Amino acid sequence: MTQKKHILVLHYSQTGQLDRVLESVVAPLREDPAVEVDFLELQPAKPYPYPWPAIRFINTFPEAVHDVGCELALDTSGLKDSYDLVILGYQVWFLSPSIPVTAFLRSPLAEKLLKDTPVVTVIACRNMWLQAQEKVRAHLARLGARLVGNAALVDECGTVASFLSTPLWMLTGKRGPFPLGIPRAGVSDKDIAEARRFGAALSQRLNSDQPLDETVWQGLNAVTVRDKLIPSEKVASRSFYLWGKLFLACGGPDAPVRKLLAIVYLIFLVAMILTVVPLSALLKKLCAPLLRRRIARQRTHFAWPSGE
Ligand SMILES: Cc1cc2nc3c(=O)[nH]c(=O)nc-3n(C[C@H](O)[C@H](O)[C@H](O)COP(=O)(O)O)c2cc1C
Repeated sequence: MTQKKHILVLHYSQTGQLDRVLESVVAPLREDPAVEVDFLELQPAKPYPYPWPAIRFINTFPEAVHDVGCELALDTSGLKDSYDLVILGYQVWFLSPSIPVTAFLRSPLAEKLLKDTPVVTVIACRNMWLQAQEKVRAHLARLGARLVGNAALVDECGTVASFLSTPLWMLTGKRGPFPLGIPRAGVSDKDIAEARRFGAALSQRLNSDQPLDETVWQGLNAVTVRDKLIPSEKVASRSFYLWGKLFLACGGPDAPVRKLLAIVYLIFLVAMILTVVPLSALLKKLCAPLLRRRIARQRTHFAWPSGE
């Protein structure tokens, strides 16, 4: 009898959305008698609030952007020493992996579990995940892990509407639809159900003679790179980084000065969203004919390894 393949799913979700996505991905693997799936919840020792108070929400960006991490309360009792595959689910917080996920990636346990191990990443976020995945790729490279797949599921209502609906969801705990025609936030039920195809591809590959490599999720429409968002993400992450330094110099998230700064930054951020995002998208559109090759290169880079 062939030996069972062991898969570890790393997960954390506030609203349960990412967990639903991962459940859909993992379903075919659970049905596969040749596979055993373990789960490790990346639970923060001190839970993050949900719904989020507005100031606390903003005040979280410096730690997220500067990879500060947090203390985790992990139940590692059922874990094996090593796995044939790790599925790393994560959501994006301020163009970075969420703080609990960063905390894990910086931990000695990540070093132990991910070294020399194939990893697939599964993202469920509003729709700006490119810079966050750059960071995750860098962490995985540092840890000696081998990224073989990435699937990114994004909110169904689109870039502009989700600038309103996703923060409303986070701040009220309600997904909508909201008054004034603001649509429902979050990834569509259809996209979540169809994420099953990723688990089916993994199961098929694990049961074949083919190696588990970068081709495993190719041709599955695993990601869509919105090239209009590439410059916006770059500018915004630079801004988060610089302002984040100032915030961190003022103390922890509960320091009174930081609360004041958060109000100032919130105003700045809204102004940025209203100006820089549409302006950079427009500039990108105008320059598109000149930048065609560069954009194609960027798309290939961000879509790696599973492709669009
Ligand atoms: C503090 C915070 C910051 C966020 N920043 C981003 C972001 O930069 N880009 C993005 O696409 N989504 C962002 N989101 C949305 C999340 O990625 C995710 O869609 C949402 O939190 C639901 O995930 P969960 O309930 O599975 O944890 C943010 C959410 C939170 C709570």
